[in-house]
Amino acid sequence: MSHDAAPNLDFAGTTPYEDYVQADVLTHLQHPRSEDPGEMVFLVTTQVMELWFTVIVHEWETATRALREDRLPVAMDALKRSMRELDALNASWRPLAQLTPAQFNAYRSALGEGSGFQSAMYRRMEFLLGEKSASMLVPHRGAPRVHAELEKALHEPSLYDETLRLLARRGLPVPQAVLTRDVSRKYEPSAEVEAVWASLYEGDQQGELVRLGEALTDVGELVWRWRNDHLLATRRAMGSKTGTGGSAGVAWLEKRAQKNVFPELWTARSHV
Ligand code: HEM
Repeated sequence: MSHDAAPNLDFAGTTPYEDYVQADVLTHLQHPRSEDPGEMVFLVTTQVMELWFTVIVHEWETATRALREDRLPVAMDALKRSMRELDALNASWRPLAQLTPAQFNAYRSALGEGSGFQSAMYRRMEFLLGEKSASMLVPHRGAPRVHAELEKALHEPSLYDETLRLLARRGLPVPQAVLTRDVSRKYEPSAEVEAVWASLYEGDQQGELVRLGEALTDVGELVWRWRNDHLLATRRAMGSKTGTGGSAGVAWLEKRAQKNVFPELWTARSHV
């Protein structure tokens, strides 16, 4: 082909780009509810974050399955992709990070009782991290597909459950009670699991299980950063007012943001 060949312009129907990306659908899903020009970026940032949640859930489900099947390199690749995606997710706070209360108030009432708390994809992320809670399905009773997906995720072992099962198969003393726990319940930290991580971290730093521990620690750190960036953006935009979702607002988010993801990976560090 010659170097100055121009792209094709002639397609019988919609373009192959459109057929693949569905950009026409995607770019017509923005329906602001106020006249305020600042609402558009609030809405689109929220939609962009939903898309990142979707990709990250995909990666963590891939990693969870691969761990179950003892395919550690496949799991590591998915976890590493998710780190870059979490970086991009966290960078998307930028347009909302410095809202003043007056700017936020200009469209806040248009949100009604709508709140990110009702995000089913965020809830699936939390479930994969081990933050299970059946009550988080309640808001989705009216949406059958979403509810069914969440219910399935509630009853499946999390990324962390599969990690601990893999450690047990590799001969590490993960307690039976942890391996056979009811996976639909929130994961509770265990002193024995903490000791397993501490013993691994004392050994070969290049070992594949230490690398897995570090990949999960990176994930945990980036999720913690998302929660804290959200908390800061909220504190700037609305101080200590109650949330549109009905919570105490910043005080409630502070408690959520304090929690460590994969707790023993953090506490084990004191014992190495
Ligand atoms: C400056 C803009 C924002 C403010 C002021 C804000 C405020 C809040 C508040 C007060 C809550 C607590 C629940 C409630 O009462 O509503 C909450 C929860 C939540 N928000 Fe936001 N939010 C903002 C932007 C976003 C964006 C862009 C997303 C992206 C999807 C998001 C996702 C979430 C999620 C997932 C929760 C639940 C967190 C959990 O369950 O721990 N928020 N938000």
